[in-house]
Order: sequence, then C-alpha cells, then structure tokens
Amino acid sequence: MSTDNALITMRDIKKVFFTDEVETHALAKVHLDILRGEYVAISGPSGCGKSTLLSILGLLDSPTDGSYLLNGTQVESLNASDRARIRNREIGFIFQAFNLIGDLNVFENVELPLTYRDGIGKAERKERTMEALERVGMAHRIKHYPSQLSGGQQQRVAVARALVGRPSILLADEPTGNLDSKNGEAVMSLLDELHKAGSTICMVTHDPRYAEFAQRKIFMFDGRVVDEETLNRLRHEEDARLSRRNAA
Ligand SMILES: Nc1ncnc2c1ncn2[C@@H]1O[C@H](COP(=O)(O)OP(=O)(O)O)[C@@H](O)[C@H]1O
Ligand SMILES: [Mg+2]
Repeated sequence: MSTDNALITMRDIKKVFFTDEVETHALAKVHLDILRGEYVAISGPSGCGKSTLLSILGLLDSPTDGSYLLNGTQVESLNASDRARIRNREIGFIFQAFNLIGDLNVFENVELPLTYRDGIGKAERKERTMEALERVGMAHRIKHYPSQLSGGQQQRVAVARALVGRPSILLADEPTGNLDSKNGEAVMSLLDELHKAGSTICMVTHDPRYAEFAQRKIFMFDGRVVDEETLNRLRHEEDARLSRRNAA
C-alpha cells in the first residue's frame, strides 16, 4: 500500500522494447514511490533504463506491465489522448537538449503548454508565463529566440516552460548534460530553489555531485532499482568481467 502522501506509486513496472526481432528488457520490476515535495535523483550507468523510467513517469511512454498511480489516477494503460491531457496538467519535463521550439520566441515557448488547455484565457496565460519566466530570471529576454541564447539561458527557459502549468512534478533527464559546469551549477541551484519553494522533483543525472542536491538518491542497474551497495557490487562485477574479457 502507498502512503497518503505518495504522489507517485509504481509497482512491478516492466518495459520491453521490440525492435527487429530483438527484445530489450529496459525495465524489470521497478517499484518506486515519490512523495509530495520530495527531490529524488536517479543515477546509474548508461543504458540501465533511467530515461525509459523517466519517460514512463512523465507519461511520454507506457509500461509493458505493472501499475502506476499518479496523483490518485491509475495511468498505466490510458490511451494516447488521455495520457496527453494528464501529462499536460501533472508533468513538467526538462530535457538534456532543452527541446525549445526554434521559431517561437522565449515568451511563446513558455506559454505553449497553456495554449493546449481549456479555460485559460490570454490574459491569464500572459500572467502565468511572465511569472514562470521571472522565477527563472529570464523575464528580460521574452522576445529572444532560442538560437540567440546561451545553453544555460535556454535551459532556464525550458525550466520555465516546465513550471508554467503548475505541474505536480518536475522531471529532469540529465538537465545539465549539455552545459558547462558554471551553467550546470546555475541550473542545479534553480532546481534546488524550486524544491525549497515546494516543487516535487525527480532528476536523472550521471553526475554524483549533482545527485547530492537531492534529498533521496535512487540507483539503477540493468533495468532495476537497487541500493547503493548493490550498485557498487554489480559495477565491480561488471568491471571484472570486462577486464577478463579484454585480457582473453
Ligand atoms: N525506443 C527504444 N527502442 C528500443 N530500445 C530502446 C528504446 N529506448 C531505450 N532502449 C533500450 O533500453 C535500454 C535502456 O535505455 P535508456 O532508458 O535510454 O538508458 P539510460 O537513460 O539509463 O542510458 C537500452 O538498452 C536502450 O538501448
Ligand atoms: Mg538516458
């Protein structure tokens, strides 16, 4: 049973990709709870299923099997349009590559998620868009296009776009992966501020320094969630296996 405070309850989540007669078991029996107001960091080696898990958490993809309760709604087997509607309300996604739309300016990029919602008029859209841009310190650049901004600025705009719908959770997949360390740190302090102001955040990062910002660290290995000790043991075994293979 989940606690009342759980925003996310995943049980036995599996994901299998079928491509060219190859089956990839990207997630095997993942259990995960995220509480309201928590800041969780997920790390683990490349290919272990972090992005797959985040895509399922963010309703960009559905699991092959298992149950996923998001903010009181069972979401594992919704059709695409219901998924899109719930995603728009509940989820703010931040990607490694920013994913801003090149021919929309900063204001239009941030406003965009609100234009897909019923019942939000133009004046309210403007107010909320400006509020989100102020929170990330980009309100002075509303007429700029993404190509006219630095990577760090683009990611701050992407954070504003993720915030504007007042989602119940922010999901960030390697949000600092395309940034130098100065801009990376600025984005991390921004997420830290948002968390302190009450946002629930789940971030994937391969950088242990950045995982330290989170309240709770989760580790993945080969499609499973493991504790840190298990991760280190499995890594060690894998390294030993690789060096035996290289020696042979
Ligand atoms: N759309 C897809 N089709 C087929 N295989 C995929 C797809 N997405 C991911 N995978 C595979 O699933 C595994 C986990 O990938 P991913 O979640 O991207 O790992 P990570 O983000 O931890 O690097 C990898 O083996 C990857 O090749
Ligand atoms: Mg990934």
